[in-house]
Formats: sequence, structure tokens, C-alpha cells
Amino acid sequence: MNVAEKPWLRSRVWWWARLKRPSLAATLLAAASIVFLSLLQRNSTPAGAPYSPPTTTVAASSASLPTHRSCAGFYDAGPPRKAVFSIKEFGGIGDGRTSNTAAFRRAVVRCREFGDKGGAQLNVPPGRWLTGSFNLSSNFTLFLDDGAVILGSEDPKEWPLIEPLPSYGRGRERPGGRHISLIHGNGLHDVVLTGHNGSIDGQGKIWWDLWWNRTLEHTRGHLVELMNSTNILISNLTFLNAPFWTIHPVYCSNAVIKNLTVLAPLHSPNTDGIDPDSSTNICIEDCYIESGDDLVAVKSGWDQYGVAVARPSSNIIIQRISGTTPTCSGVGIGSEMSGGISNILVDDLHVWDSAAAVRIKTDRGRGGYITNVTITNVKMERVKVPIRFSQGSNDHPDEGWDRNALPQVNIIHVSNVTSIDAEKAPILEGIEGAKFEGLCLRNINLGTIRHETKWRCEHIDGEAYNVFPPPCRQLRSNATSSKCLH
Ligand SMILES: *[C@@H]1O[C@H](CO)[C@@H](O)[C@H](O)[C@H]1NC(C)=O
Ligand SMILES: *[C@@H]1O[C@H](CO)[C@@H](O)[C@H](O)[C@H]1NC(C)=O
Ligand SMILES: *[C@@H]1O[C@H](CO)[C@@H](O)[C@H](O)[C@H]1NC(C)=O
Ligand SMILES: *[C@@H]1O[C@H](CO)[C@@H](O)[C@H](O)[C@H]1NC(C)=O
Ligand SMILES: *[C@@H]1O[C@H](CO)[C@@H](O)[C@H](O)[C@H]1NC(C)=O
Ligand SMILES: *[C@@H]1O[C@H](CO)[C@@H](O)[C@H](O)[C@H]1NC(C)=O
Ligand SMILES: *[C@@H]1O[C@H](CO)[C@@H](O)[C@H](O)[C@H]1NC(C)=O
Ligand SMILES: *[C@@H]1O[C@H](CO)[C@@H](O)[C@H](O)[C@H]1NC(C)=O
Ligand SMILES: *[C@@H]1O[C@H](CO)[C@@H](O)[C@H](O)[C@H]1NC(C)=O
Ligand SMILES: *[C@@H]1O[C@H](CO)[C@@H](O)[C@H](O)[C@H]1NC(C)=O
Repeated sequence: MNVAEKPWLRSRVWWWARLKRPSLAATLLAAASIVFLSLLQRNSTPAGAPYSPPTTTVAASSASLPTHRSCAGFYDAGPPRKAVFSIKEFGGIGDGRTSNTAAFRRAVVRCREFGDKGGAQLNVPPGRWLTGSFNLSSNFTLFLDDGAVILGSEDPKEWPLIEPLPSYGRGRERPGGRHISLIHGNGLHDVVLTGHNGSIDGQGKIWWDLWWNRTLEHTRGHLVELMNSTNILISNLTFLNAPFWTIHPVYCSNAVIKNLTVLAPLHSPNTDGIDPDSSTNICIEDCYIESGDDLVAVKSGWDQYGVAVARPSSNIIIQRISGTTPTCSGVGIGSEMSGGISNILVDDLHVWDSAAAVRIKTDRGRGGYITNVTITNVKMERVKVPIRFSQGSNDHPDEGWDRNALPQVNIIHVSNVTSIDAEKAPILEGIEGAKFEGLCLRNINLGTIRHETKWRCEHIDGEAYNVFPPPCRQLRSNATSSKCLH
């Protein structure tokens, strides 16, 4: 995307351009750490077998042409790591059967010794490296060669329990602690996960089965979770079969997630692709994602816990993402958004055979806000509801949620949207007593809609220009008094 050609976008991305100046980036980083003091589900259908990559490649991302503008400019790559190791040096055996949990943990302990001595890189050569959960360290690169596969253990004990996130107050699915992610990091800076398209396969089927047969005792682990970390790069890899959300940066800043393939069976429960949560300065670009839940979901904590922690998600660019998820959305915002969500740009999104292309989801009790969201250049085929802003499943962490905590949703700009073969017109339903305001829809052509061509609007207020089929009366169009045309 060339911002220079899109003057109206300039004001929205000014902060991004400025972040490219190292001095300001450093200042913001420092500011972010100062601010960071106070911190301390759905129904589904049966699963298929775990995703195994096809022998012929169909799904390569159409993106990543060099002419495309990157949002990764703020990322500070630094010099190459001083020490380089192979997992084999720590007793690793890549036969797909031998457990490498101890080998990965030993390797990270050794790499950590180089944290303040120029950093370390751990190479994973071709092979199938079975392992339980292990942690990352600072100034560290995990590099997966072509043909390297890290396989998540199928023994839940290899994914030990950790504390719930303070902004959720409990595990997302079950009360109490939650299983740690396969690859985990906490309080780190300068962490890289990359390679020549090696893969990290969570072998999530055992977890999906536990979920379906309702015998899951604790919340499932993510495939990769980074908490309270900064200067992160995740690139050039494939992520498969996550037990739960695939990549979860939470309480993080300055993270780049780019050029990934993320795959999970289309009906696997809650296998979201990339979920930035209470995180700022995040660049997500050039990813192909197909999964059983949102391709990308921006979150910021759950009800009274998210309100108390008050860590928003802001300054997030999501561009050139494509993929499919039959029961969920291309990009979702919420439903957990109690710490607030602002300054989000979604540009160049391609979604097919999905429930929605873009979805804002919130509920009474969430509190928080969603504001300054721009969604542009969206293309979709065979989507059920192209644009859906509405309430979710009304799920709450416990009885302590506040019925009066109404989310505020405003300044949401959607433009340049085309759709083929959608099932229904958009659904824009705010909350009684908390209208979704300042909606601005422009240049939207949804073509022929198969079933409900009438927009469903309630408790909303905004404007629409050049939108087809004709929108609901709550969306006015009066260019002389417009707040959204300029
Ligand atoms: C939206 O963000 C811009 C900066 O990107 C800021 O100036 C403005 O105050 C924000 N508006 C609201 C309603 O938060
Ligand atoms: C990387 O591997 C995945 C899975 O094997 C494949 O779908 C994808 O096309 C590969 N990407 C590239 C760029 O080769
Ligand atoms: C990481 O490296 C930087 C210098 O590049 C250093 O200041 C910092 O202390 C190192 N971090 C750790 C945990 O060793
Ligand atoms: C990994 O870090 C978590 C804290 O984030 C800790 O609870 C766990 O024990 C660590 N695991 C290992 C193997 O060091
Ligand atoms: C976050 O990480 C920093 C180190 O980068 C640490 O000093 C701080 O205590 C951590 N905060 C929490 C809440 O864990
Ligand atoms: C994306 O990653 C693949 C490997 O997964 C690599 O072959 C390709 O060159 C990368 N593309 C860019 C633009 O970096
Ligand atoms: C539920 O699924 C798990 C994992 O596959 C299995 O071990 C367990 O026996 C199943 N329980 C029931 C009641 O089907
Ligand atoms: C991805 O891989 C390509 C090809 O090896 C390389 O040129 C590029 O720098 C890598 N990008 C990132 C962000 O790791
Ligand atoms: C919308 O599409 C038109 C025509 O392709 C283009 O000129 C304009 O820049 C696009 N707007 C945005 C915000 O990208
Ligand atoms: C459009 O807005 C202008 C300025 O507020 C107002 O004078 C005019 O009556 C409006 N037109 C219609 C059709 O509502």
C-alpha cells in the first residue's frame, strides 16, 4: 500500500511512519514500559483429521511482492547472533518419536548464557522434532530449516499449567490455570522465530477431541504465546494444528508477524490464526491462514478483569492477509476487548467461504472501547455476512461481571469492499444504550446477495456513500455535512 497515493490515510498512519525513526521508536518503547506498571468459547461442528500439507502447493500467498509497502519498518533487527547451535548438540533426535523436551530446554538454557554476549541462534535441522513445551529467551533466534518440523507432544502433561492471564481472570475456556503454550516467552526482548519455511505442528487433535467430548479440564494451550515481550519477529514459517489460538502476543509491543502460512482443519475449535491481545505496535502482513476460527482477531481482555488491567490493543496494521474459516471471520475485533482497542488498520484482505469478512464483536459487560478502526480494500467470495458488527455469545468469566459496563464502539471506517455470492446483507447491530457510532461506509459493492438483501441495522449511527445494495436508513448520506468524507 502506498500511503502517498492515499492522502486520506496519512493522518491514520502518521504514527506508523514516525515509528520508523529510531529515536522516536526508542522513546515510545520506553514510554510503553513505563505505562506498563499495573499489570500484574463457542459451539462447533465435528473435526476432520489434522491438517497435513498437500503434496502439491495450492495455497501460497498471493501477496509478498516487493512493491508492497511493509509495516515492519520499526522492527530493530540488530546484528547476527554471536553463538549458533543446533538442537542436535543438546541430544536432540529428529525421528518423530523421541521426546526432545529436555533437549530444547537445555538448548535454551545454554542460549540464555549468550543473552548479554551478542545473543544466540538455535537451528533446527530437517527432521521431525517431537517436544513438550519450552520457553524462549531474550536476544534469541529459533531457526527452522527447510524440512524441519517441531511436533507438539500429544501428552497434556507436557503442556504444564500456568497462571491465567490477569486480563482474563481465569482460563478462557475453563476456570483456574491454563495449559502453557508449546513455545512460550515471558518478559523477553529481541526474539525471532524464523526459518526456511520449517513448520511448527501442534498436533492439536487430542485437544480438539477433549473439547468436543467435554472432558477438557483446563484451557487449551496456544501454539506460540509471547507475554510482556518486545521487539519480536515471527516470519517465513508454517504453523499447523494449534490446540487453541495459533499465535498469541499478549502484553507485547513492537512485534512483526509476516510471511506465514497458518493451517488447521476448517472445523477445529478455536484455532484462531493470529491474536494480538493487549498489545501495541503490531505489524501483521503477507500471511495465508485457514483455520477453524478467526484468521486474525484483535483482543484486549475479558470483562471486569480486562477493565481492571486496562491494557489496550492499539497501533496495529493487518495487511495482505488471505484465507478461509467457515464459521468465523477474516478479521475479528473482540469479543474480548475490555482493555480497549484503537488505531487499527486492515488493508488488503481476501476472504472466501467464511462466515464474515470483517466482524466487530462485543457484549454488555465488556466495558472498554473500539475506536479509530479503518478497514479497506477487502475482497470476498461466498461469505455469509460480509460485514458484521454485533454482539457475540454473551459469555462472561464469572458472576462478577458488570451489566452496566457497556462497550463504546465508534469511528469505524470501511471502504473499497467487493463481494461475490454473499448470503446476506451486512448486519450492524449495536447495543441498547450503547449505539455503535461514527460508522462510515464508502465504495462498497456487494453485488447480488443470495438470500437477505435487506441490511439489518439497530442501535447504530453513521453514513454511507456509494454502497450497494442500498443500506439501512440509519446510515445517512449527506455530503455537505459529512464527517467521514474528506
Ligand atoms: C483517533 O486517532 C487519532 C490519531 O491516530 C487521534 O488524534 C484521535 O483523537 C483519535 N480519535 C478518537 C475518537 O479516539
Ligand atoms: C510452506 O509450507 C507450507 C506447508 O507445507 C506450504 O503450504 C507453503 O506453500 C510453503 N510456502 C512456501 C513459500 O513455500
Ligand atoms: C540483549 O542484548 C542487549 C544488547 O544488544 C543487551 O543490552 C541486553 O541486556 C541483552 N539482554 C539480555 C537478557 O541479556
Ligand atoms: C516457562 O516460563 C513459565 C513462566 O512464563 C514458567 O512457569 C515455566 O516454568 C517455564 N518453563 C520452563 C521449562 O522453564
Ligand atoms: C515484564 O517484563 C519486564 C522485563 O522485560 C519485567 O521487568 C517486568 O516485571 C515484567 N512485568 C510483568 C508484569 O511480568
Ligand atoms: C516467505 O517465506 C518463504 C519461506 O516460507 C520464502 O521462501 C520467501 O522468500 C519469503 N518471502 C519473502 C518476501 O520474504
Ligand atoms: C475424549 O477425548 C480424549 C482425547 O482423544 C480421550 O482420551 C477420551 O477418552 C475421550 N473421552 C470420552 C468420554 O470420549
Ligand atoms: C524470509 O526469507 C527470505 C528468503 O530467504 C529472506 O530474503 C527474508 O529476509 C526473510 N524475511 C524475514 C522477515 O525473515
Ligand atoms: C479504493 O479503490 C480506489 C480504486 O481502486 C483507489 O483509487 C483508492 O485509493 C482506494 N482507497 C483506499 C483507501 O485504498
Ligand atoms: C445536509 O446537511 C446540510 C448541512 O448540515 C443541511 O443544511 C442539509 O439540510 C442536509 N440535507 C439533507 C437532505 O438532509
